[in-house]
Amino acid sequence: MKKPVAALILAAGQGERMNSDLVKVLHPIAGLPLIAHVTQAVRGAGIKNVGVVIGTQGEAPRSFLSGVKIVLQKKQLGTGHAVMQARSRFGNWQGDLLVLPGDVPCVLAETLRELIKAHQRSSVSASILTADFENPTGYGRILRRGNQVVSIKEELDLKPSERGIREINSGIYVFHTPALFRRLNEIKRNRKKKEYYLTDVIELFARNGELVRAYKIKDSSEILGVNTRKELGEAHQVLTERELKKHSQAGVTILDPAQTSIQKGARIGRDTVIHPFTWIERDVTIGRKCEIGPFAKIRAGSKIGDEVVIGSFVEVVRSRVGNKTFVKHLSYLGDARIGQKVNVGAGTITANFDGKRKNKTVVGDRVLLGCDTVLIAPVTVGKGAQTGAGAVLCARNSVPAGKTVVGVPAKVIKRKG
Ligand code: UD1
Ligand code: MG
Repeated sequence: MKKPVAALILAAGQGERMNSDLVKVLHPIAGLPLIAHVTQAVRGAGIKNVGVVIGTQGEAPRSFLSGVKIVLQKKQLGTGHAVMQARSRFGNWQGDLLVLPGDVPCVLAETLRELIKAHQRSSVSASILTADFENPTGYGRILRRGNQVVSIKEELDLKPSERGIREINSGIYVFHTPALFRRLNEIKRNRKKKEYYLTDVIELFARNGELVRAYKIKDSSEILGVNTRKELGEAHQVLTERELKKHSQAGVTILDPAQTSIQKGARIGRDTVIHPFTWIERDVTIGRKCEIGPFAKIRAGSKIGDEVVIGSFVEVVRSRVGNKTFVKHLSYLGDARIGQKVNVGAGTITANFDGKRKNKTVVGDRVLLGCDTVLIAPVTVGKGAQTGAGAVLCARNSVPAGKTVVGVPAKVIKRKG
C-alpha cells in the first residue's frame, strides 16, 4: 500500500428483510457471524485501523469486535448517514478509506487488496468494486460514461431503460478520505426511502469533475449481499464450496460436496476420505488417510490423528483421537483423550457433563471399549484395558491397565489362570 488505508464497516442496520430479532450482521454462516467474515477479510488485506458502525439495538455486536473502533449510529438513516457518524473518528484521516457493508461475507482479502492497489495507482476520488450479475434485482446499478462512473442508482430509482444494467454496486469502495467527507456534507435524503444514500456521493464527485472508477471482478459470488434469509443460505454455500474446493485440491476426497460442510480454518490431511452428510467445524484438525462419516459431526477443539475411522452417527467435540483408532458407529466423544489403536465399540458414550461442568475422559492406547460402554467423566481407562458390552464406568473409578471390567457399575473381572 502506497498510502495508509483505514477501513469502515457499516453494520448498524437491523436488516428488516431478514424478519429476525437478531441484528442482521450477527447471523452466523459457515461458523461465524457475517460481520466476523468481513472483519477477517479486512484484516487479511493488511488493514489495522478499522472502524465499525453499529446501532443501539443491544450490546451484542460488540462481543465480536475486539480491537476495532466502534462508531454509534443511533438512528438508521441510511448508508450515507452511517458514514457521517464516523466523521469524528476518521474525518481527519489523510489516507484512503475502505468503506464496506457488514453483509458481504464472501469477499476475499486479496480482492480488497487489489481494489486498494488499483485505487492508489490512479488518482481518483473513489474506486468501486463491481461485478456483472445475472439477476441484479435489489442492487444499486452502475451508470457509466466510458471508463468513468457517473452515478449509482438504487433499484427504486431506476428508469425503465436502466433496468437492463447488469453491473452492480458491491457497496465496497475506496475513497480519498477528505473528498468523501467533503461530499457527504452535500447529500440529501432520498425522496422515496427518506434515507441518506452513500451512493449519492458518487454522482456528486462526477458532477464536480472528480474521477470515479469501477473495478470489476469476474466472480460475482464474492460480493453477494445478504439481505434476506435466502441470500444468507446462498452466502453459506459460497463459503462452504470455497473450503471444499481448497481441501480437494490438497488431496482430500469429498464424495458428495453438496452434502458436506467444512468450515474455514479446519485442517485435513492428504488421502482422507469424507463421506456424505459430514459436518466439520473451523478449528478441527484431521490427519491423513482417515475415513470420516457418513453422518459424522466433528466439532470445535477436536484433533483427529492419522488413519482414524470416525464412522456413522458419531459426534466428537473438544477431543483428541490417536492414530489408527476406530470410532465406527453411534458414539459421542466429548472432552475425551483417546489413545492410539483404540476400538471404540458401537454406542459408546462419554458422559462428560455433570450438570455443572464438563469433565475429562482419558482412554489409553489399544483399549477395547465394548458396545454401549458409558464413561462417566472424569474417568481414566488404562492402556490395553477392555470393557464389556454395556459397562458403565463410574466417575473417578479408573480402570487399571490391562484389566477387563464389566457390568453396572463396572468391576474388574478376575480371570482364572
Ligand atoms: C447497499 C447499496 C447498494 C448496493 C448494496 C450491495 C446504498 C444506498 N445501497 O444496498 O447500492 O448494491 O448495498 O450489497 O448504499 N447500514 C447502516 N446504517 C444504516 C443503513 C445501513 O449501518 O442506516 C449498514 C447495514 O447494516 C448493512 C450496510 O450498511 O451492513 C448496507 O445496508 P443495506 O440496507 O444492506 O443496503 P442494501 O439495500 O443492500
Ligand atoms: Mg445489503
